[in-house]
Amino acid sequence: MFGFKLPFAVSLLAATALAQSYDAPGRTDGKYEISSEGIRALFIPYGASITNLFIEDKSGVERDIVLGFDNATHYSVDAFHPHLGGVPGRYANRIKNSSFVIDGEDYHVDANENGGLDTLHGGSDGWDYRNFTVVAHTSTSITFSIVDPDGKEGFPGEVISYITYTVTPNTWHIKMVALATTKKTPIMLSSHTYWNLDGFSNPDTPTALNHTLSLPYSGQRIGVDGILIPDGSILPNQKYSVNDFWSSPKQIGANISSPELIGNCGSGCIGYDNAYLVNRAQNGPYDWRTEGPVATLASEWSGIQVDIWTDQDAFQVYSCGGQNGTLPIKSTQGLPSRPRVVEKYGCVVMEVEDWIDGINQPEWGRLSKQIFGPGDEPYVLEARYEFSVNEG
Ligand SMILES: *[C@@H]1O[C@H](CO)[C@@H](O)[C@H](O)[C@H]1NC(C)=O
Ligand SMILES: *[C@@H]1O[C@H](CO)[C@@H](O)[C@H](O)[C@H]1NC(C)=O
Ligand SMILES: *[C@@H]1O[C@H](CO)[C@@H](O)[C@H](O)[C@H]1NC(C)=O
Ligand SMILES: *[C@@H]1O[C@H](CO)[C@@H](O)[C@H](O)[C@H]1NC(C)=O
Ligand SMILES: *[C@@H]1O[C@H](CO)[C@@H](O)[C@H](O)[C@H]1NC(C)=O
Ligand SMILES: *[C@@H]1O[C@H](CO)[C@@H](O)[C@H](O)[C@H]1NC(C)=O
Repeated sequence: MFGFKLPFAVSLLAATALAQSYDAPGRTDGKYEISSEGIRALFIPYGASITNLFIEDKSGVERDIVLGFDNATHYSVDAFHPHLGGVPGRYANRIKNSSFVIDGEDYHVDANENGGLDTLHGGSDGWDYRNFTVVAHTSTSITFSIVDPDGKEGFPGEVISYITYTVTPNTWHIKMVALATTKKTPIMLSSHTYWNLDGFSNPDTPTALNHTLSLPYSGQRIGVDGILIPDGSILPNQKYSVNDFWSSPKQIGANISSPELIGNCGSGCIGYDNAYLVNRAQNGPYDWRTEGPVATLASEWSGIQVDIWTDQDAFQVYSCGGQNGTLPIKSTQGLPSRPRVVEKYGCVVMEVEDWIDGINQPEWGRLSKQIFGPGDEPYVLEARYEFSVNEG
């Protein structure tokens, strides 16, 4: 038994030593920088989170276009932050009744939302509330790892995951890999980044309602109840309806005063918090790297546009209707004349992921993409965020 455990202990020691040798070189704020032409990004081990993303706007001014904190240590202190820029895991989004069945066995996981009615983002100590280990860091790339133990938050079996962020000119690449090493378990990851393509510096508005969104493959969305739990239905995003971002691009706020938008993001909520399906297979085989972006978000004021490419089959959009002016923006953002906080609708979260709560909807046929066991192919998520500037 001792002989069996020793190599594991040694490899843990090695991993720890490795982590220490990559202690945020050249910075004093606990953040790790990577950069390439036209792009500079900062990350922290906490949640393997992006904290800053600098892109030049149409006037050549660098804008920090994601939400986060100035201070890396503040994430652990102020744990009420809403999953800022991290990797929700081991199962992103919601799990109905905080339960699921694998091979006839019932599992119950930490019910951390709506007073215990469901699980959000892997439970109260989900991956984006834990420190990952930095296992590699170069000037253009950083890799984080996490070992999620058997039984943590109620999930069966150990999961080992590697998250690699790389930059090439004007592009941020994400690759997430996860292995279930001991038991069959649900795995679904995402990147929970909050965007404001103006860096909160648009003098006309502190919100993202004037950002234009296009979801060309998303003619359908997942039907949910009043607390955003999938009810099994798949709904049509009919042309000109509030959820139509496929027939033509539209500002996020274009339908803000439409009665149809009331309750669209849960009971009493006006705006978006919806999982749009990404339907690309109907025209034959495709390669996500060349097929076309699944989403485009652009701001006319800054001119900054992001095209999102991914291998994932769903795309969650949250228009930050829950923000209420209490979450701070960073010193790299905002205008001197305005409160240094995120206003209602001040941001947009866009999550590449699989069909949410697919583990409880076997009729959707997503189980092979969401349940993984020892010996299976690893879970893989890839995405690419391409930035460009519209001069107009
Ligand atoms: C960062 O946050 C920690 C914890 O809140 C605090 O002790 C420290 O003084 C802060 N550092 C800076 C530079 O703000
Ligand atoms: C919901 O979970 C509880 C225990 O957490 C369980 O007793 C009950 O059967 C579950 N309900 C459904 C509909 O799955
Ligand atoms: C994460 O690491 C930071 C820096 O070492 C530390 O201050 C913080 O307490 C850690 N947080 C958690 C949740 O372990
Ligand atoms: C939503 O906005 C678009 C673009 O302005 C418009 O064509 C459409 O009719 C609106 N739909 C509703 C339901 O208000
Ligand atoms: C910004 O959005 C608001 C609300 O949706 C709209 O009334 C206004 O015309 C938009 N402004 C621009 C410049 O597009
Ligand atoms: C604002 O939102 C935060 C986080 O959801 C919440 O804790 C706080 O009570 C809210 N404040 C107001 C004034 O609604």
